Amino acid sequence: MKRARVADLLRREPGGVVEIDGWVKTARHAKEMSFIEVSDGSSVAGIQVIAEPDLANFEDEVRALRTGAALRVEGELIESPGKGQRVEVAARRVEQVGGVGDDYPLQKKRHTFEFLREIAHLRMRTNSLGAVMRVRNAASQAIHRFFQGEGFVELHTPVITASDAEGAGEMFRVTTLEGASADPDAAAADFFGRPAYLTVSGQLEAEIGAAALSRVYTFGPTFRAENSNTSRHLAEFWMIEPEVAFLDLDGNVALAEAFLKSVCGDLLEHCRDDMEFFALRVEKSAIDTLEHVIREPFERMTYTEAVKILEASGRDFEFPVQWGADLQSEHERFLTEEHVGRPLVVTDYPRGIKPFYMYLNDDERTVRAMDVLVPRVGEIIGGSQREHRLPILETRLQEQGLPESEYWWYLDLRRHGSVPHAGFGLGFERLVQFATGMANIRDVIPFPRTPGNAEF
Ligand code: 4AD
Ligand code: MG
Repeated sequence: MKRARVADLLRREPGGVVEIDGWVKTARHAKEMSFIEVSDGSSVAGIQVIAEPDLANFEDEVRALRTGAALRVEGELIESPGKGQRVEVAARRVEQVGGVGDDYPLQKKRHTFEFLREIAHLRMRTNSLGAVMRVRNAASQAIHRFFQGEGFVELHTPVITASDAEGAGEMFRVTTLEGASADPDAAAADFFGRPAYLTVSGQLEAEIGAAALSRVYTFGPTFRAENSNTSRHLAEFWMIEPEVAFLDLDGNVALAEAFLKSVCGDLLEHCRDDMEFFALRVEKSAIDTLEHVIREPFERMTYTEAVKILEASGRDFEFPVQWGADLQSEHERFLTEEHVGRPLVVTDYPRGIKPFYMYLNDDERTVRAMDVLVPRVGEIIGGSQREHRLPILETRLQEQGLPESEYWWYLDLRRHGSVPHAGFGLGFERLVQFATGMANIRDVIPFPRTPGNAEF
C-alpha cells in the first residue's frame, strides 16, 4: 500500500487499498452515509470518499467533518457508480488530522478574486488558484526545458545591485541605516559602502555571462518601485532573460517566437486538465489562444509602421498617438488583438523612449528594440540588440544622464572582445496571465506585492 496523489488515483483502474492525505473540499452527510470530496492540490478534481456507519468514529468524527478539515483516509479504490468520476474510495479508516471552526472562510460557492487575495494563506486551496499554481509550475519547467535544450547556461544574477539596469530610476533601496543617516549621500557608512538596490533586471549581468558563455538565461525575481496600480503590474515579479552573443535583432525576434511557441505547446501537453478548467471557468478562448500561438507565425512591424496604423485606425484612444511617444497598453492591444489578431513583434522604437543599452540604428533616431505583444495582455516580452560600440554607448549614457562611473564594468565589456549581442526579458506573470486568461496579474502569483500591499 502506498500513499498516492489524488491526480494519480483518479487515473487508476479500480482495485486495491489506497491511502490519501488531503483537505475536505465538500462534505455531504446523508442519512447512513457521508460523501467527502478530498483534494490534495494535485489536480482540479478531488476524489470522492464514501464513509459508512461501520467506521468506529462515524458518528462523532466523520459526521462532523467540514470543508477545510485535514484528513487521512485509507480505503478501497472502487468503481464509482456516480457520474463525473471513474473511481471513488470506500473508506476503511478516516482520521481528521486538523479540524476547522465555523469561521473557515472558503465555502462551496464562488468567491471573488479580490476577496481571495485577502486570505492568501488559504486561497491556493480554491480550484482556480490551485490551477494557476500548477500551470505556473509547468510554465517554469517548460522554460528551463526550452533553454536547456538549446544549450543555454542558467546564470544566477544578483538580487542586490548598485546599478539601475533600465536607467528608469524605479528601484527599491536596500539599506541597514536608519533615520536621517539613511540619506543616500551618507551611503559610505552603509552595509555595502554605497547605495544599493533591489534589481529591476538581470540583463546587464547576463550580458557579462553571454560575453563568456555565449548563451545564458536568468530566471529570477525583479523589483520595480513604479506606482502602477494596474492589472498588469507588480512591484515584485519574475523575469526570464536570455542573452546571446553574436546575435542580432532578427535572430532575437526568431528566438522569442520559437521560445513562446515551445512554452505554449508544453503547457497544452502537460496541463490539459487545468487548461480545460480555465477554458470552462475563466476565459473561453484559453486553449484556442495557445493553439493559435503555436500554429500562426508572429506578425512583425516597426514602431513607425505601428504609429501609422494607429493614426489611420480612426480610434479615439485615451492617450494620443504620436511618433516619439511610447505605445500605451490600449495601443498595443488594438494592434495585436484587432489589427493583426495574433502575437505581434514591434521593432525599432525611438531612441528617446528606450533604455541606454539598445543598439542605435543608422538613422540615429531609432534603436533595435523589440516588444512582443499578445492579445489580452499587451507587452509580454521586451528586448533588443545591445549597443556593443563603446563610443555610442558612452553617448547614450550621457544623454540619459547616467554616470559612466557606475557602469564602468558594463563599458569594459565593449573594450575587451566586444561582439554584437541581443536578448530579451519575458515577464513570467504576464506569461501565466496570458496562458490562463486570468484578468489580474495579482492572481497568478502566490503572494502579490503592489503599492500598499505586502501582507503574508
Ligand atoms: O520591458 P522590460 O522593462 O525589459 C527589461 O527589463 C529588459 N532588461 C529585458 C531584457 O532585454 N533582458 O521588462 C521585460 C518584461 C516586460 O515585457 C513585461 O512582460 C515584464 O517584464 N514586466 C512586468 N511584469 C509585471 N510587473 C511589472 N511591473 C513589469 N514590468 C515589466
Ligand atoms: Mg518594456
